[in-house]
Amino acid sequence: MERPPEKERFVFIETFGCQMNENDTSRIYGVLEKVNFRPTYDPGAADLILVNTCSIRDKAEQKVYSTLGRFKGLKKKRPELIIGVAGCVAQQEGERLLKRVPHLDIVFGPHNIHRLGDMLAELYEKGGRVVSTELRPDIDDNEYDVHAPVDGVKAFVSIMRGCDNFCSYCIVPYTRGREVSRPHDEIIGEIRSLAERGIKEVTLLGQNVNSYGKGAGSTFTALLRDICSTDGIERVRFVTSHPKDISEELIYLFGEEPKLQRALHLPVQSGSDRILERMKRSYTVEGYLSKVRLLRSLYPDMALTTDVIVGFPGETDEDFQGTMQVLKEVRFDGAFSFKYSPRPGTLAATFEDQVPEEVKSVRLEELQALQRKITLEKNEALAGRTLEVLVEGGSKNNPGEFSGRTPCNRVVNFSADGVAPGDIIDVFITEGYQNSLRGVYKERSLLCSWK
Ligand code: 5AD
Ligand code: SF4
Repeated sequence: MERPPEKERFVFIETFGCQMNENDTSRIYGVLEKVNFRPTYDPGAADLILVNTCSIRDKAEQKVYSTLGRFKGLKKKRPELIIGVAGCVAQQEGERLLKRVPHLDIVFGPHNIHRLGDMLAELYEKGGRVVSTELRPDIDDNEYDVHAPVDGVKAFVSIMRGCDNFCSYCIVPYTRGREVSRPHDEIIGEIRSLAERGIKEVTLLGQNVNSYGKGAGSTFTALLRDICSTDGIERVRFVTSHPKDISEELIYLFGEEPKLQRALHLPVQSGSDRILERMKRSYTVEGYLSKVRLLRSLYPDMALTTDVIVGFPGETDEDFQGTMQVLKEVRFDGAFSFKYSPRPGTLAATFEDQVPEEVKSVRLEELQALQRKITLEKNEALAGRTLEVLVEGGSKNNPGEFSGRTPCNRVVNFSADGVAPGDIIDVFITEGYQNSLRGVYKERSLLCSWK
């Protein structure tokens, strides 16, 4: 283990991208805590500035360069300040980042977070610049055992890393490597220790959680059953599911395990079979819809959310209308939608029939307008219902109110007396808005007379 620097130092981290990156940032804080770094929210007061980056779309990648530009002045004033880039852009660009950004000291990819202490020791001892972007097929023993101190009532837990699907638009298999699962028992150990520290809800993270367990002697449903029987954990969620891999066993598990929250993120990406094939998604629109129908028939209250890409190479108006049709038919509770962005090194970036930017923009606007309407209608329809809410803390926008989430993962702001973070209570929903619900908590006995 590296020698900790004698004095206490401060780190500022800016995080872009997905929940996986948020989780990596918390692991970075954990590694740094061991070598005497404390977090600061002021980059001006930091001894170490890290940008944890995302390269899923070009826009995300460009943000990295503007963010790094902001810290140039600080480095000029204090040359001993260390500036580093982590995450997917670091993995993809490696040495090139050092060439492009002269005031950068460290570049390290997602497989090398647990080695950050050694990298810093090297920098403090020898100076120079460090690049650590090795992609390893296996997970190191100590790779996931460092975490920032837990605060709040919810936590993310990575159960696997990488992806083997190679969807033709996606850079993830190149930046996060081949799919590999963490050992079942190690995950359970982590979740037990989170429960001991007051965590009530865990969200399991993986690019394709349904294929968890390959090479780790387990399956996703076996893992879920064990997590659901962990004392202290009251709610279990997971992202992301691949429609081709979601099993009937998993679908039926929602009916067997009350802790498994009835919310499923199931990216459809496109409503055209021709486009799905070119995306290498390995399912058809009808195959996707039949899974949705099964889920809805078993659990009418289940929330379904999705990801959609518009303007994939070769997408015609007809293909796009197919996607609109899926949104109308499924009526997702929420959808993340994106304009296709060619990523270097991916198959789809080489396709010749790229869709013009203006066409992508028009389609995205049309699709988002439709989804906004559906989301609002679905939120409004919840008024008058009583939903179970995990209290997370004070409401950000409405001082004096509390905030929490429903099983279907909607934010609820509500007035209440005598509740505390971590409580699971019944909230009577009074209004539904575009992005949240509003409600009121009353004693259970009072509520019963309202129902
Ligand atoms: N362009 C646009 N969107 C993309 N996504 C992944 N790669 C790209 C890309 N090249 C979207 C997919 C995925 C989500 C995380 O990001 O919809 O599900
Ligand atoms: Fe990317 Fe497809 Fe893997 Fe998701 S399943 S991370 S979209 S390659």
